Amino acid sequence: MKFGALLLFAGLQVALVHGDIIKVHHAHGNNHARMAKRQASASGSSSGSASRSASGSASGSQAASGSGTSAASRTPPPLDTSTTIPPVASISLGMPTKAPPSYTASFAPGATPPIAGAPKIPKALVKTGWPPADKVPDPSSPEVQEWMKELEGFTIPNIPPTKDGSCAGDPTAASQAKQHGWWTCGGWTRDTDIAACPDKLDWGLTFDDGPSFYTPNLLKKLKATGVKASFYAVGSRTIERPDMLIDEYMSGHEVGVHTWSHPSLTMLTTEQIVAELGWTRKAIKTILGVTPVTMRPPRGDIDDRVRAISLAMGLVPVLWTSTADGGKFDSNDWRVAGGEFPGQKSVDIYNDIMKNASIIPTGFVTLQHDLFEITVDLAVGYTLDSALSHTPKFALQPVGHCQKWDATELYRETRKNTSFPYTNTSRGASIDIDGDGQMDAALGFGVPLWTSLLALTSVLYAVSL
Ligand SMILES: *[C@@H]1O[C@H](CO)[C@@H](O)[C@H](O)[C@H]1NC(C)=O
Ligand SMILES: *[C@@H]1O[C@H](CO)[C@@H](O)[C@H](O)[C@H]1NC(C)=O
Ligand SMILES: *[C@@H]1O[C@H](CO)[C@@H](O)[C@H](O)[C@H]1NC(C)=O
Repeated sequence: MKFGALLLFAGLQVALVHGDIIKVHHAHGNNHARMAKRQASASGSSSGSASRSASGSASGSQAASGSGTSAASRTPPPLDTSTTIPPVASISLGMPTKAPPSYTASFAPGATPPIAGAPKIPKALVKTGWPPADKVPDPSSPEVQEWMKELEGFTIPNIPPTKDGSCAGDPTAASQAKQHGWWTCGGWTRDTDIAACPDKLDWGLTFDDGPSFYTPNLLKKLKATGVKASFYAVGSRTIERPDMLIDEYMSGHEVGVHTWSHPSLTMLTTEQIVAELGWTRKAIKTILGVTPVTMRPPRGDIDDRVRAISLAMGLVPVLWTSTADGGKFDSNDWRVAGGEFPGQKSVDIYNDIMKNASIIPTGFVTLQHDLFEITVDLAVGYTLDSALSHTPKFALQPVGHCQKWDATELYRETRKNTSFPYTNTSRGASIDIDGDGQMDAALGFGVPLWTSLLALTSVLYAVSL
């Protein structure tokens, strides 16, 4: 199975950094590009969701399985009673896949969004005239040159692009990670990053990389359980499946920018970063009629240059929570899709996250994905239910909501507070990111307060064991 072998090979490119933090960059990257490719060809071959559902599930299933004849000839795993999700033991790379759910748009142009003052849903997206999918858009285009002007008046630190966004791949950059606030190598954040929810037991639930063929399954589950989440959308995917993005927004989920082609942003030139963010921002605005004010860097790969560019473009970076000893609130569901380990391990990690989340003094933000059938199955069949039935009880919600932002503040067109989310003075240093009503401290403070609190908590926790 070529697809699986490639992912497996990619998954072996593991870099060990800082002794205790393991990073896998290429696995996620290749995985994403491959998935995107096979999704693109699947949607191309069946010319859209309508004909796919009309023409039956067979061709859809095969195209989406990405594993050719071997998967087609195997029997799908037995289903859990009364659900469509396979037993967790069967969830792993190479599992026979189900047909993606048939999907028809739930909202028409002209629909009124649930956010006060938001423009009506625009007319249907014209899919031509966009940059090629899954490639860094041309930085010399007139659009990008226009967006470059947004950086004027901001201090963009002169940090050279990293070699490959990994610590092992760029030892020089890794040695300066603290000065440059490079999250990838050591988890450095700045006060303007959102990496947690301020209130204990508040859970900022996030899904990256969609919309995909399997996103409707997740939306259905979220609706059934009354949970709202944040979706960080990939520009290329929004052009392929704009109606699903509209569904997310109309259903009360928050939508943010997750770049056009999912590169590690620290590797790119400043103009390329502007192109990645700018085209995705434009795609979302064209589809929804509103412009997000949040972004998530793929793989969390952000440093002070990427931060400054994002803030200058009106996009506040959203990461996910990590503990002082390097534990990251990443469900690692993407590693299951990448063949690195079985579904049960991601479920175990999720339980570990919930255990740690119960004892830290703040709330938290987690990372999950709606790009893959596997990651959606894990969420729909397992992790969301355990999150909802956990004791102590968590309050699952989107990230902006847990920052206590009014829903209107999530988008440029509806926000009332003109000093939010950024100012052009000094890399957004005067933003009240944690929502406590106080301006947060200036940038340049390597480890934020909540990280120190986490360190203290870990010590207390260790002592109590
Ligand atoms: C930056 O802010 C100042 C003061 O609010 C304003 O006069 C200036 O036009 C702004 N510059 C840009 C590039 O937005
Ligand atoms: C949970 O906390 C333990 C103990 O501090 C730590 O070793 C582990 O990495 C953490 N796991 C996660 C997913 O945060
Ligand atoms: C607007 O946003 C700024 C920065 O987050 C905050 O300090 C201020 O209190 C907000 N104003 C209102 C009216 O909400």
